Amino acid sequence: MPPLILVRGLRYQYDDGTVALNGVNFRLEKGETVALLGANGSGKTTFALHLNGLLSGQGTVEVCGLAVNPKNIVEVRRKIGLVFQDSESQLFMPTVLEDVAFGPLNHGLSPEKSAERAMTALGQVGMTGAAGKAPYHLSAGEKKRVAIAGILAVDPEILVLDEPTTFLDPPGQRALAQLLSALPQAKILITHDMPFARALCSRAAFFRNGAIAEEGSVAQMAARFEWDFAAPRNP
Ligand SMILES: Nc1ncnc2c1ncn2[C@@H]1O[C@H](COP(=O)(O)OP(=O)(O)O)[C@@H](O)[C@H]1O
Ligand SMILES: [Mg+2]
Repeated sequence: MPPLILVRGLRYQYDDGTVALNGVNFRLEKGETVALLGANGSGKTTFALHLNGLLSGQGTVEVCGLAVNPKNIVEVRRKIGLVFQDSESQLFMPTVLEDVAFGPLNHGLSPEKSAERAMTALGQVGMTGAAGKAPYHLSAGEKKRVAIAGILAVDPEILVLDEPTTFLDPPGQRALAQLLSALPQAKILITHDMPFARALCSRAAFFRNGAIAEEGSVAQMAARFEWDFAAPRNP
């Protein structure tokens, strides 16, 4: 069995010359939930965008044994679902139901089957009652749930959430942690929220300057992480 995710020596430079990833090595095994920690600008989002081929750098990125490349991209995107930090950018249809059905429809399921999948996914996130609503009328927490339903509707093996608690109030953060802990998929959670990471993740990887500088338990990495924020910046 290959690992769910295997990344080796990943490097990526943006067009303006910023080297955002500088040799990332990472592995995710079945059933794992891993936190990606690290200061703003350390490369976490850029890394996540490589996992489903939204960006493509140098090095190896494999998802469920498939190289992430144009040939495999459709299959890769069935295996791994990304929820962006700003859920609003992911919600663009007139109704919640259409939004959540978009993924399965896009992967070739019939409209009926797609709507059925969407209703099941909305049930998983406790949002069945909002199916007919306009996404922009929802609260931040509800939008996050709907965005998660949108990826669950495609039935992925891996969920990647980029700073999912950022726009949520404390009850919303706890509710999201509960929701995620009930989902069987392997997960990557990019977060600055230590209670959230501690509640969900068995392992944490700490990003610094475009690479994973350290890995360990959430508690170990949290100590490291807080230290990093307190440390003076080099000129
Ligand atoms: N579209 C972009 N163009 C140029 N540089 C970018 C772009 N997006 C991010 N960066 C830069 O890449 C580095 C990593 O950013 P990012 O992956 O967003 O970090 P994080 O998610 O850890 O905050 C930063 O230096 C950031 O300024
Ligand atoms: Mg980011």
